[in-house]
Amino acid sequence: MSINILGIESSCDDTSAAVISDGVIKSNIIANQSIHEKYGGVVPELASRAHQQNIIPVVDAAIKQSGLTANDITAVAFTRGPGLLGSLLVGTSFAKGFSLAKKIPMIDVNHLQGHVLAHFIKESVDDSDQPNFPFICLLVSGGNSQLIIVKDHLDMEVVGATIDDAAGEAFDKCAKVMNLPYPGGPVVDNLAKHGDASLIKLSKPRIADYNYSFSGLKTSFLYHIRDHIKDNQNYIVENKAHLCAALQATIVDVLMDKLHKLVKDTGIKEIAVAGGVSANSGLREALLQYGEKYRAKIHIPKIIYTMDNAAMIAITGHYKYLKGEFASQDVTPLARWNL
Ligand code: KG4
Repeated sequence: MSINILGIESSCDDTSAAVISDGVIKSNIIANQSIHEKYGGVVPELASRAHQQNIIPVVDAAIKQSGLTANDITAVAFTRGPGLLGSLLVGTSFAKGFSLAKKIPMIDVNHLQGHVLAHFIKESVDDSDQPNFPFICLLVSGGNSQLIIVKDHLDMEVVGATIDDAAGEAFDKCAKVMNLPYPGGPVVDNLAKHGDASLIKLSKPRIADYNYSFSGLKTSFLYHIRDHIKDNQNYIVENKAHLCAALQATIVDVLMDKLHKLVKDTGIKEIAVAGGVSANSGLREALLQYGEKYRAKIHIPKIIYTMDNAAMIAITGHYKYLKGEFASQDVTPLARWNL
């Protein structure tokens, strides 16, 4: 009998449902919430209301597209945290109802673990392109920048994390200063392709161990703009591409420096990248070059699995199901939940 996991993701501003059958992706539906664009960031109350509206049609579409029926689902996996409490509550409540109605187990999933395990989603039965253990995962998103040693599907050790802003946050906040739309990361990525990073020097953090910090870089970016705008009101407009290129190059450099330190110290030469910022073309390029230079095996996710999606929740549910790790009906969402 196949293990068919329905995954539900509702931690932030995307409502997503996916079906994974014996580790193979069958469907992955994501409903984006455009309502937040005009506010320049996610408004939690609006996000949970939109999840309420989206969740049933999104689950319905995911089950239909999988070719299965609701009665074929073996277990329902849902994001328990970390994330926005009101948003998490929608997915958690839905999972409880589905589990009760279908008399199937439910599985609580850590969103960050989901990002890492996205690398184990199979596109077909004979897809064998998954990382070998142990591997290093660079997890970079809007809320996290972490270096993780992944020893097994459910055994992960966080060895470094951001002490202030995350990489995605640095992209988004600096983009806001340049009046770019939210989220700024993808926009900076596109503009950076037309700019020259060497024209602008931004300061890089000096933090011990494997920890990250992006707050100083953000300040250095702000000061650079403030100093130049005094002489030229149009400085941002005229130099947007260069500013984006410099910002991206510096963030990528910082990420790669710590990754390299961890590779040297552990000797682990299998590296994966995950999270929203792993969509960044500069980071992808830097990782591929690193792989060639140091003969490391690099795993880069498909763009669809870099963003918040339920397929990664379903695959994590699959591995927790195999271990019999289930949640009870009185489970509550966790706004904060470390790996
Ligand atoms: O993992 P994710 O979808 O959401 C959470 O953090 O929960 O990550 C979103 C972050 C945002 O900060 C966004 O600007 C960033 O990922 N991002 C990018 C790119 N695409 C998304 N940053 C840089 N370059 C990109 N291409």
